[in-house]
Amino acid sequence: MSDALAKDQPIVRLSHISKTYQQGKVQVHAVNDVSLDITQGDFAALCGPSGSGKTSLLNLIGGLDVPDAGSVWIDNVNLATLSHAKLAEVRKNRIGFVFQAYNLIPVMTAYENAAFVLDLQDIDEAEKYQRVMQVLKDVGLEGLEQRRPDEMSGGQQQRVAIARAIVTRPAIVLADEPTANVDSETAKSLLNMMAALNEQQGITFLFSTHDQHVMDKAKRIIQVHDGKIADDERK
Ligand SMILES: Nc1ncnc2c1ncn2[C@@H]1O[C@H](COP(=O)(O)OP(=O)(O)OP(=O)(O)O)[C@@H](O)[C@H]1O
Ligand SMILES: [Mg+2]
Repeated sequence: MSDALAKDQPIVRLSHISKTYQQGKVQVHAVNDVSLDITQGDFAALCGPSGSGKTSLLNLIGGLDVPDAGSVWIDNVNLATLSHAKLAEVRKNRIGFVFQAYNLIPVMTAYENAAFVLDLQDIDEAEKYQRVMQVLKDVGLEGLEQRRPDEMSGGQQQRVAIARAIVTRPAIVLADEPTANVDSETAKSLLNMMAALNEQQGITFLFSTHDQHVMDKAKRIIQVHDGKIADDERK
């Protein structure tokens, strides 16, 4: 395959995926026959009411959950064909996760949290140091490398989480309501920072949100309704 062709391949391809959860006697179609491509450089927001299926979709894309039907492709690889070990490798190397609740390790410093995934990879110490210091600078945390989570604001903690997600140079960063726990000013600056990473470094983002400001910043708005894609628009 030529490079030109390879470049046109989506980073994520969802082909007719569905996920049904059992709630007591009721079946909930959290994701209902969704097909979607995410391409290199996308800065896309999944929007939709509570319960519409945004988190379920992100979990399926990130290989944290498995669809009942259809397939999820990352980098042209069907996740269903991978062994547990290979799937773990794809999650570790190709996908960055950012959660609403930051999920930092409380006893570790900003530096150690950001370095965490690199510690699991076979990377030389000097390179690791250089990369971690650079991403902490890129997310605006220069000088705060030795702070622990309880010594940082919510916005600063989320910046550490974003640093941790991008330090491995993933194909895509999946962020589930990354600004839900911070005030609107902090949400704005987090969004501007993520938009700059997208613009300047070409990092691909897919995030879910209820936040109008986040939607305004997105370059692509994907509306989710009752487990289906109701609308998908690039600005
Ligand atoms: N593990 C689960 N077990 C049972 N039902 C679930 C599970 N996860 C999600 N659901 C159901 O699937 C539907 C979609 O949930 P999901 O969390 O994906 O929505 P969401 O769009 O992320 O909502 P919110 O905006 O509130 O975060 C909901 O009806 C929810 O109750
Ligand atoms: Mg959700």
